[in-house]
Amino acid sequence: MQIHVLGSAAGGGFPQWNCNCPNCSGVRLGSIQAQPRTQSSIIVGNGTPDWALINASPDVLTQIKSTPLLQPARHIRDSGIAAVVLMDAQVDHVTGLMMLRERSSPLPLYATKQVFEDLTSGLPLIKTLDHYCKVVQHLIDLNQDSFQIEALQGIEFKPVPLSSKAPPYSPHRYDPHLGDNIGLLITDKSSGRSAFYAPGLGMIEQQVEQAMQQADVLLVDGTFWTDDEMITSGLSKKRAIDMGHLAQSGAGGMIEALSAYTHKRRILIHINNTNPILREDSPQALELKNLGIEVAFDGMQIEV
Ligand code: MLT
Ligand code: MN
Ligand code: ZN
Repeated sequence: MQIHVLGSAAGGGFPQWNCNCPNCSGVRLGSIQAQPRTQSSIIVGNGTPDWALINASPDVLTQIKSTPLLQPARHIRDSGIAAVVLMDAQVDHVTGLMMLRERSSPLPLYATKQVFEDLTSGLPLIKTLDHYCKVVQHLIDLNQDSFQIEALQGIEFKPVPLSSKAPPYSPHRYDPHLGDNIGLLITDKSSGRSAFYAPGLGMIEQQVEQAMQQADVLLVDGTFWTDDEMITSGLSKKRAIDMGHLAQSGAGGMIEALSAYTHKRRILIHINNTNPILREDSPQALELKNLGIEVAFDGMQIEV
């Protein structure tokens, strides 16, 4: 099974269009050792020209352009994106759906009940898309063990409910529901190997621990280095945890959570532009290197 990282940044991307934090201006000016990144998305494939797009980022057209295998050109109108799976209804994970409206067949879309509700109420993208390519809604049922995507034979997707956050526009932003956010344990049934993907992960609960134990590759929330990063940068009053993200450093942080899995490939993804790990020569980036924890980048290819 192959995973390609299309976008490794959190919402806003890197650099963010209106941001002059040291990271964003540094990468814009080329004065720091860092590479630009687009917003959160991966593709999963089994060796055929068909791929599952996991999250549809606002940068999806740029991402498709820089990923030639997503245009297999079998027909006059074609795409390697066979289906889209959503982890939540956050703007950085769903607004790319609008860019896929020229499809010549209805778009198979996999999401939980909560996400479909947000996408038909607070942000009614599905109703809008129905005027173009139409959407075939496949409900991710959290009581069912796993699901498969028709075009991706041999790959199994197991939803893992997560504590994170519904989007700010959601009618239940402050009233969390099971299914607002999920992670995915993605398994290649022929090899038995699997990856756990959770770009928005606020808390390591029992079901998360279980998925991490089971997976061979961990691709998890790398949004913030410290819980108060947005506050100390003077950019927001919100803590990482208020936004549904577990910071990397400190007691109970993501690095500590990953320390039980040193024998596995561990990759941080969905990195916010304020995060010091984006600077390849920062002490934080070097600390991760020493621990054997990787930082995802756009175009990263992962063989599971
Ligand atoms: C988040 O995961 O908190 C986001 O990146 C929010 C956003 O899209 O603005
Ligand atoms: Mn996000
Ligand atoms: Zn910035």
